Amino acid sequence: MASALITILLILILINIHPTISSSNWTLLQSNIGITAMHMQLLPNDRVLIYDRTDFGASNLSLAHGKCREDKYDYVLKRDCTAHSIEYDLLSDTFRPLMVQTDVWCSSASLLPDGTIVQTGGFNDGDHVVRVYKSCDDCDWQEIKSGLTNRRWYATNHLLPGGRQIIIGGRRQYNYEFYPKISPTEKAYSLPFLVQTNDPNLENNLYPFVFLNPDGNLFIFANNRAILFDYSRNQVLKKYPQVPGGHPRNYPSTGSAVLLPLRIVQGNVSVVEVLVCGGAPKGAFINAQNGKFDGALKTCARIRISDPNPKWVMETMPLARVMGDMLLLPNGDVLIINGGSAGSAGWEYGRNPVCNPVVYRPDSPLGHRFEIQTPSTIPRMYHSTAILVRDGRVLVGGSNPHIYYNFTNVLYPTELRLEAFLPSYLDPRLSSSRPKILPSFRTQFGYGERINIQFMVSGHVNLELVSVTLVAPSFNTHSFSMNQRLLILEGGNTTTAIGKAKYEVTVKAPPSCFIAPANYYLLFVVHGQIPSEGIWVQIG
Ligand SMILES: *[C@@H]1O[C@H](CO)[C@@H](O)[C@H](O)[C@H]1NC(C)=O
Ligand SMILES: *[C@@H]1O[C@H](CO)[C@@H](O)[C@H](O)[C@H]1NC(C)=O
Ligand SMILES: *[C@@H]1O[C@H](CO)[C@@H](O)[C@H](O)[C@H]1NC(C)=O
Ligand SMILES: *[C@@H]1O[C@H](CO)[C@@H](O)[C@H](O)[C@H]1NC(C)=O
Ligand SMILES: *[C@@H]1O[C@H](CO)[C@@H](O)[C@H](O)[C@H]1NC(C)=O
Repeated sequence: MASALITILLILILINIHPTISSSNWTLLQSNIGITAMHMQLLPNDRVLIYDRTDFGASNLSLAHGKCREDKYDYVLKRDCTAHSIEYDLLSDTFRPLMVQTDVWCSSASLLPDGTIVQTGGFNDGDHVVRVYKSCDDCDWQEIKSGLTNRRWYATNHLLPGGRQIIIGGRRQYNYEFYPKISPTEKAYSLPFLVQTNDPNLENNLYPFVFLNPDGNLFIFANNRAILFDYSRNQVLKKYPQVPGGHPRNYPSTGSAVLLPLRIVQGNVSVVEVLVCGGAPKGAFINAQNGKFDGALKTCARIRISDPNPKWVMETMPLARVMGDMLLLPNGDVLIINGGSAGSAGWEYGRNPVCNPVVYRPDSPLGHRFEIQTPSTIPRMYHSTAILVRDGRVLVGGSNPHIYYNFTNVLYPTELRLEAFLPSYLDPRLSSSRPKILPSFRTQFGYGERINIQFMVSGHVNLELVSVTLVAPSFNTHSFSMNQRLLILEGGNTTTAIGKAKYEVTVKAPPSCFIAPANYYLLFVVHGQIPSEGIWVQIG
């Protein structure tokens, strides 16, 4: 009896107050996927597309059916019979090799509304190439040789309201272009902001942080400041102030950033905020080249971009971090994971792995937002990745600060292991509070349409704490998740009991393609802080 009471008390504490000692956890999924997970994208069939680079030399995974890649331009192997890309199936925990023909190193990508991944650019013979991959049991990459007008290496992509994607910047590219093109002659458009934020010799504005603002414009952050940009008219609409301190936050100073959860109220989103965390101080990249590893930045900067006169508000993380990944969890929390606490991005330049993730709760009072999580045992340094998957876990892979695959006699060996981080909401002690969405025949919804969801919760339910969120599957590389966005739908407060342990909630699909570009999204029912497993829905 006493122990039952204690259990109930514990569950109530875990639901109502955030656990002060985190019960997050880790599991090893694969001890060797053959390649190092430098780039990852979750696909709408619960498979994950992963790739590294073709000029690493031979990987640890042979191509299927004895195939080999012949590439006279490759700097390392002109004939390579190993894979540099895989498709990992989360449901069966298995993977198969895929073949990329040209170099995909440090490239960028986005899903198109039909679930096809469009990957752009890379290095060497791959820098103008567009590659598409649509998942099926024996599909492979298709390559479009001159799909880009300009070379794109370290660029950022974003899915646009009209269904195309924009590809912004890249090394020595102070411009942007679109894919697909409206006409074969459609060229790139200049973006002087990328010149203005380019420190000579340091760059510090690569892989810019790009978010689609719900008013249809793009928020573009590079180095230490941002603009609001109308890409359709090539016009800067607003300049945001420099982040206090002025330290750079983009590659190779590599912090990370998220668009905080967008709450839809009366058919619109009125509060839009961006959070930028970590990075390496000015000069860290040069210092690392000379064997001096500067401490990483410990600050986050948050800005309400929808304000008429927005200002950055600084916060201090419990752990300094460079090359961290920031991910939106289904309950609206921000996970900060991977990276190190000294040095910089770039070959051999990172030090002191930070194995503890940190959770940031955007709605908690200032000063009470961060919580340190259970550490992994695997350092995840330069070229590591993390993505949210449908069941609420976070898939973590990669880490290779070396020019080749180097497994021995190096500080941080090339990492071929895939593991999953289990946020504390997956603690088995919370299972009676976890919603389980009941199967529904409809998974496609137009803008503003009603979405009716039935779900079960075996234990006590607090109807006032139910919400429904949509999360876009993002493309992760170099500490940035392209297309990452989370929407809190209107109507979470309509939840009613409809049977024993059975409930129903009716929410409204997002009102427009500016708030949610047509795409696949993961839909979660969240009870308190505890999300259900997601279901795939198509919006728009
Ligand atoms: C973490 O996972 C391990 C192995 O699966 C398990 O033994 C342990 O109880 C888990 N810890 C928590 C806090 O869930
Ligand atoms: C992968 O590594 C294992 C063990 O390290 C080795 O036995 C195997 O031959 C390697 N495979 C390839 C294709 O490199
Ligand atoms: C929606 O909110 C945005 C600010 O985020 C504002 O610019 C826009 O005018 C609003 N739209 C409507 C239809 O109210
Ligand atoms: C990594 O391995 C390559 C050969 O595969 C070797 O030439 C290089 O020196 C190694 N790098 C380091 C940092 O040990
Ligand atoms: C839910 O909240 C909206 C506004 O946030 C309000 O207009 C509506 O009446 C509420 N519905 C219920 C069932 O409480």
